[in-house]
Amino acid sequence: MQTLAKLIAYLFLALISVLVLCCMRTTVLIYTRPPPPPPCARNETEGYIDSAGSWGRLKRAVQFETVSHSPHHYNKQQLEAFGRYLTQAFPAIFHSRYVRHDIINGYSMLLAVRGKNASLQPYLLMAHMDVVPVVQSEWVWEGFGANESPDGNRMYGRGLIDNKGQLMAILEALSYMLNKGDQPVRSFFVSLGHD
Ligand SMILES: *[C@@H]1O[C@H](CO)[C@@H](O)[C@H](O)[C@H]1NC(C)=O
Ligand SMILES: *[C@@H]1O[C@H](CO)[C@@H](O)[C@H](O)[C@H]1NC(C)=O
Repeated sequence: MQTLAKLIAYLFLALISVLVLCCMRTTVLIYTRPPPPPPCARNETEGYIDSAGSWGRLKRAVQFETVSHSPHHYNKQQLEAFGRYLTQAFPAIFHSRYVRHDIINGYSMLLAVRGKNASLQPYLLMAHMDVVPVVQSEWVWEGFGANESPDGNRMYGRGLIDNKGQLMAILEALSYMLNKGDQPVRSFFVSLGHD
């Protein structure tokens, strides 16, 4: 009986110790947490990515029926046309001396953007060109129509969110930077997959 009471007392003590330790760790973490990063600075005088042009290019991008049904069944003709469109729409990228452009496996694109400092590890931005099929009877809008809402603030189409929006955003930003004559400090890759 006495042994059991002792055991319970020890367990209780152990539990209290763990709780105290947790409280101490939490307190330390609260006071040593790094401050949040500063918000991105907007520079009104510098101007922004040309939004009228971007809207039109996004609209065009959505109209390519770059459908892939499975890893080995994709619309090759449309993927080829989409790739051609991108090279025409972003001359600043595809003619830049900082950018190396490779086609991988027929349709995917790999852009290697050379930074000023070669000793920094590069990073990778990814997006994909292909979309899932459209069953038009399930859609209110035309699947590849890139139709706009009456107020002109919205666009509807397969792949706008997944994933041509991201794809075009990456290329718009890169094109904007290169057009200004800027070279990034750190090198990076852009991979645009098709399957
Ligand atoms: C904003 O951009 C202009 C033009 O590139 C530049 O001259 C100016 O120094 C920038 N201002 C800030 C606060 O970064
Ligand atoms: C390039 O990056 C390395 C690693 O951060 C740094 O030590 C070096 O000073 C940088 N070189 C230049 C020219 O900024």
